[in-house]
Amino acid sequence: MTETEIAAELRRLLANAHAPYSGVQVACAVEGADGRLHYGVNVENAAYPQGHCAETSAIGGAVTAGATALRRVYVTSSLPELVWPCGGCRQRILEFAQPGCEVVSLGPDGEIGRQTIEQLLPLGFRLEPGARRRD
Ligand code: THU
Repeated sequence: MTETEIAAELRRLLANAHAPYSGVQVACAVEGADGRLHYGVNVENAAYPQGHCAETSAIGGAVTAGATALRRVYVTSSLPELVWPCGGCRQRILEFAQPGCEVVSLGPDGEIGRQTIEQLLPLGFRLEPGARRRD
């Protein structure tokens, strides 16, 4: 799929976002190592903190499908400007990101922004290699 086609698909998926409280629809696609895309939208809840982001939905689908080495993340929203993943989602992306994983923000009028996950989340939390829980 070309980036233009992915953008069109994400724009279409905004209609499926469940965002009655904020009124902000967000759609995300994450691309695994095999090139397959996994999609997600934000899902809000009447108990506000229980809502979750589009990136979280997409990552959940990717992990469920066995895709745990992400090479690219695409995000778009109903807002007029480019949006970037929130702090918590940056950490969730980092968990599964291949080094240099690119986050591509797709604006409503075809504008595109690109940042690596390391640019968006410098010094993100990582457990020491080999670290084990002590309980
Ligand atoms: N939202 C996302 O889906 N992704 C982000 O990275 C930031 C915010 C959603 C959460 C909420 O449903 C709405 O946007 C407004 O904050």
